[in-house]
Amino acid sequence: MGTGGTRVLIVDRDGRVVGSATQEHVPFASPQVGWAEQQPDDWWTACTMAVPRALQSAGLRGDDIACLGFSGQMHGAVMLDESGRVVRPALIWCDVRTDRQCRELTEKIGAERIIQLTCNPALANFTLTKFLWVRENEPENWKRVRSVMLPKDYVRYQLTGDRATDMADASGTLLLDVANRRWSSEMLEATEIDRALLPALYESPDICGKVSAGAAEVTGLKAGTPVVAGAGDQAAGATGMGIVTPGAVSATIGTSGVVFAATDAPALDRQGRLHTFCHAIPGRWHVMGVTQAAGLSLRWFRDQFGAGRDDGRDAYERLTEEAATAPPGCKGLLWTPYLMGERTPHLDPHARGALVGLTASHKRADVIRAILEGVAFSLRDSFSIFSEMNVPVKSVRLGGGGARSALWRQIQADVYGHEVEVVEAEEGAAYGAALLAGVGAGMWASVDEACASVVRVAKRVRPEAEAVATLNQNYAAYRRVYGATREIFAC
Ligand code: XUL
Repeated sequence: MGTGGTRVLIVDRDGRVVGSATQEHVPFASPQVGWAEQQPDDWWTACTMAVPRALQSAGLRGDDIACLGFSGQMHGAVMLDESGRVVRPALIWCDVRTDRQCRELTEKIGAERIIQLTCNPALANFTLTKFLWVRENEPENWKRVRSVMLPKDYVRYQLTGDRATDMADASGTLLLDVANRRWSSEMLEATEIDRALLPALYESPDICGKVSAGAAEVTGLKAGTPVVAGAGDQAAGATGMGIVTPGAVSATIGTSGVVFAATDAPALDRQGRLHTFCHAIPGRWHVMGVTQAAGLSLRWFRDQFGAGRDDGRDAYERLTEEAATAPPGCKGLLWTPYLMGERTPHLDPHARGALVGLTASHKRADVIRAILEGVAFSLRDSFSIFSEMNVPVKSVRLGGGGARSALWRQIQADVYGHEVEVVEAEEGAAYGAALLAGVGAGMWASVDEACASVVRVAKRVRPEAEAVATLNQNYAAYRRVYGATREIFAC
């Protein structure tokens, strides 16, 4: 259950995708700069539309399904009243209105203490800060709140009637004691949030409920089908790409961009520039750096300036084909993708995007290519922090839209200066969710075993020396843009 849409995949015991369907969501509303809201019932509607279509595409019936898994956009604040109805639209992951709540929380509890308790600093993306905003700014709404949950868990709630979540998704709430995999009593006490509001916690492959009779009727699933906890989209996506042991790293460009490494223990960046979260595997963690507007940068360009002449092909295919006519480095043109503020490495909700270095000789193609390169530069910042922290990088697998475009794959290999791989079932988070369901159903003994038996590399792309040299120079210049422009936008 992503931001742009819901994808339903049906995967067999050999890891083959046998059916699928996608249903777009209503785009998120941004009634003020930095705000981002969606209606949880739109996610549920998308699920009820996509599940029957996926079954139909596979020629299967509900009772052919052994188990269901979930993955979803992380961090969003869903608030329900005592009859389980949505109190107000969800404040989603890229909503950064809670800068003040973050500052107050940090002053009250202490920056270091928050990292000790949750492994992460107070960031505007994290769910807790969104609850605090609603409590302060909409006390009437907050008074009616009887339970809170993360976005995919609302779909689970509709399907099963249970209030449950997984360790990986819960890690992004700032309410989880990530190191010990339990809700943090100290964070709850310090913020006066009632523990009874929170869902029950499970490990990702654990069975935690079953499809209700009512949900079976609207989805075509069979009542009683077991459901596993699943994971937030990043941990599920990494699972689907086989990023489960230290040394394996993924770079995923969806709406956001994420560089993700699996670890055996919580690895902390003292400056909090990376997130340290539980993995979808019991007893394992991960670190990840997040670019707020990765694929969103290209979508923004498409929506504002168009994708060129409509010849019936996909708009992104046309855009990247146009970008391929520009040279690596775009004659010095640089894009910083800070359209929704930025997390890694700046942790600055006031950061703003910039197109720097324009001359009269630049063309549209250079601008599009500069966007693709700028997004990759932003992801490279996370690799730079991994290297400061001695997080090993043995292999790099690409995911999301950034893996589907040949040009963006090559740009990423050149910018990271590392061979990149693409896996066969390039289905990202939904595929990982299905593997977790397979483990829950007993098809594989563990997540490691599931990945080892079904995740296979389909393609490898090597960096090209000349482009690497040019892009290294541009990256050095890119790193200076934020510092040089920060003052202009600081509040
Ligand atoms: C991860 C994050 C995004 C969202 C949306 O921290 O914010 O990946 O989950 O996809």
